[in-house]
Amino acid sequence: MDFLHYQNGHLMAEKIAISELAIQYGTPLYIYSAPYITKQFMAYEQALIHRKHLVCYAVKANSNLSVLSLLVKSGAGFDIVSQGELERVLKAGADPKKVVFSGVAKSTSEIERALSIGIKCFNVESESELYRIDEIARKLGKIASISLRINPDVDAKTHPYISTGLRENKFGISYQLAIDVYRKAKTMANIKIVGIDCHIGSQLTELAPFLDATDRILALVDQLKSDNIDIEHVDLGGGLGVCYDNEQPPAITSLVTELTHKLQNYPDIEILFEPGRSIVANAGLLITKVEYTKHQDNNHFAIVDAGMNDLIRPALYQAWMQVLPEREPQSSDKPYVYNVVGPICESSDVLAYQRELSVNQDDLLVVCSAGAYGFSMASNYNSHPRPAEVMLLDDKQHQIIRQRETFDDLWRGEEVL
Ligand code: LLP
Repeated sequence: MDFLHYQNGHLMAEKIAISELAIQYGTPLYIYSAPYITKQFMAYEQALIHRKHLVCYAVKANSNLSVLSLLVKSGAGFDIVSQGELERVLKAGADPKKVVFSGVAKSTSEIERALSIGIKCFNVESESELYRIDEIARKLGKIASISLRINPDVDAKTHPYISTGLRENKFGISYQLAIDVYRKAKTMANIKIVGIDCHIGSQLTELAPFLDATDRILALVDQLKSDNIDIEHVDLGGGLGVCYDNEQPPAITSLVTELTHKLQNYPDIEILFEPGRSIVANAGLLITKVEYTKHQDNNHFAIVDAGMNDLIRPALYQAWMQVLPEREPQSSDKPYVYNVVGPICESSDVLAYQRELSVNQDDLLVVCSAGAYGFSMASNYNSHPRPAEVMLLDDKQHQIIRQRETFDDLWRGEEVL
């Protein structure tokens, strides 16, 4: 992570000591860098500068209002998958005209709300959803702009849980059915066809699946044209991977440049992307405190105060995430190979397996690259209040952007019988 480094034996985020943040805000604690988030978003913007485009940040990756409002200020659009995400982006000041609505299970009330505020388009994931949107739009006297999310049936070569573009996945409309569904959409009085989209998976580290998916989508654009169905925008989804360990995903600029190049014969088509992880993952870290070390039967545990409730990626996807000690390792250290485990009563509550560390009780550890799908997937399992979130505004200043939950927050809305 490019804003983390050791200075005088201690880990710093720019000029801010990690230990100071832990003292001021407590642990476990999520930290994000605002300049890094803006930089990543602007990399998409810059690469698309010569095209009509909209970069729709995928809210699910990190939906804190401060993250969203930072992106609003940079001109972002948003990719949402629920009314909750819609209300969040509106609260953060987003222009509804820059919002695309993905997701396989849009409910009637979600569609009504999105139609009433006038979003840019629905990324429709099934034929039945299309009928529902048409019917609701008719009732409300509106015209719904739609794009069909096509499942291009390409292998994204990523973890099966985050691969979405294969025909066996629940996402999108089958490639074979696409033209037929577009033809039906064209006959619907309250539907306006504006786009086509795909999203083939997440944490993609190779260019080839993106190129294949784009070719397949553009082949459909051509077929649609011969059917007199004009496509105003092509949305190529999100999915660009980041470096957690030693992965070498394409840079944002190369990905966008290569894909834009494929659209050079379609100069009037607006290009959309829906990036999440590549904007926020390496902007964020999770600071956690070692509560105990335990050495038994040749097993060494660093038992920390953050668990799978705070950061589920290692448990759910066997994700490898870098763990750095706050105290810089010294040559005189006698490290152990630790499993870094959390407080949750599950054997899968392991943040990191087999890491050589020299740590003691009360030391701090930092889980890197935790800005995406970290807090947004956190839960209260085992009745742990969710952590605080802090934004680094520049190299010296920081600000709390979400208070640590209290015990009262844990039972808000519950009743004692
Ligand atoms: N668009 C759609 C329709 C999506 O479903 C997603 C992510 C994105 C865009 C953004 O993808 P990104 O650029 O972030 O890869 N929780 C998993 C990742 C799940 C991704 C779900 N969809 C993880 O922690 O690895």
